[in-house]
Amino acid sequence: MSPHVDLSRAVGHEARRRGPLYSRLAPPVHDTLSIDDLRVKDTLLGLLDRLGWLDWALRQRDRRRYRRDRQSVARDEAFRAEGAPDGLALPPADLIYLVTRQFSPLAFFDSGVVGGGAIRGVLDDHGVDIAQLGAILDFGCGSGRVLRQWRGLDRVRVHGTDYNQTLVDWCRSNLAFAEIGKNELAPPTPYADGQFDLIYAISVFTHLNEPLQHAWMSELTRILAPGGHLLFSVHGPTRLDILDEEERERFDRGELVLRHQGYEGGNLCSAFHPETYIRDVLCCDLEVVDYIELGATDASQDVVLVRKSPARS
Ligand SMILES: C[S@@+](CC[C@H](N)C(=O)[O-])C[C@H]1O[C@@H](n2cnc3c(N)ncnc32)[C@H](O)[C@@H]1O
Repeated sequence: MSPHVDLSRAVGHEARRRGPLYSRLAPPVHDTLSIDDLRVKDTLLGLLDRLGWLDWALRQRDRRRYRRDRQSVARDEAFRAEGAPDGLALPPADLIYLVTRQFSPLAFFDSGVVGGGAIRGVLDDHGVDIAQLGAILDFGCGSGRVLRQWRGLDRVRVHGTDYNQTLVDWCRSNLAFAEIGKNELAPPTPYADGQFDLIYAISVFTHLNEPLQHAWMSELTRILAPGGHLLFSVHGPTRLDILDEEERERFDRGELVLRHQGYEGGNLCSAFHPETYIRDVLCCDLEVVDYIELGATDASQDVVLVRKSPARS
């Protein structure tokens, strides 16, 4: 188990440079939906769920809540007006919501810094210097929240891919340092066997059903170089509080727990992974190098680091 990365330092630099706007650690984004959001059986939300409008309805509700918080809106407008500290464009609010379930560009930016720092920290702990790798892939890159952290890595070929065309278009137009691909909800990708030394997927396996998870694990293994690493985040034992009794029993038996199948790829579909399921089922063909509880602090998720055998083609 890795020691936790000192994430406060990553944001603290900006806090010191730019004053009170940054004077706190970034809150986690794309947090799990609350029990009220997810256990919608008899309510109006339940009806919207059956009609397939639940995602839309939750977005409207979250937008109303956000707009009522005038202080945050003013802070976010000031942040947008000044521009992101990394000099790159900030996505429009709707594209921020699509990947983080909240509208704040400041939280989007800060949490990306924290997320990038966490990935670097986990890799460093295992002797991998991301700056020395040949090619990396952000699978499910969204609107580039974490991807943008790698702009300074001049020696590395930085790739991102997502199944959402709008997000892909935004990244292609605004993150020119990276090569952005578009895939479908299910594999394959056009990438060559063994193309990447590192693939990471933050808050992506958390939104896929079981067959899709297995299909993607095979595909990502195919495009990973022998000896290469795959880092992905999951809702693990640290999110047990969210599960109801019946779900918890299944989780304790080592089963993958899924909510809102039918919304695969979107934030509503939520997967909860017991560690044994990861080790014995999902990643049984890979070496599990580390499992770090809440390693993805930016997303309140656990981190799994696996490695493809150097002997495997
Ligand atoms: C919660 S968002 C996280 C985005 C980004 N990884 C981040 O941390 O900011 C989940 C992302 O996974 C993408 N996604 C979901 N299923 C996918 C799939 N099968 N292939 C590629 N991207 C997928 C979504 O479009 C979305 O951008």
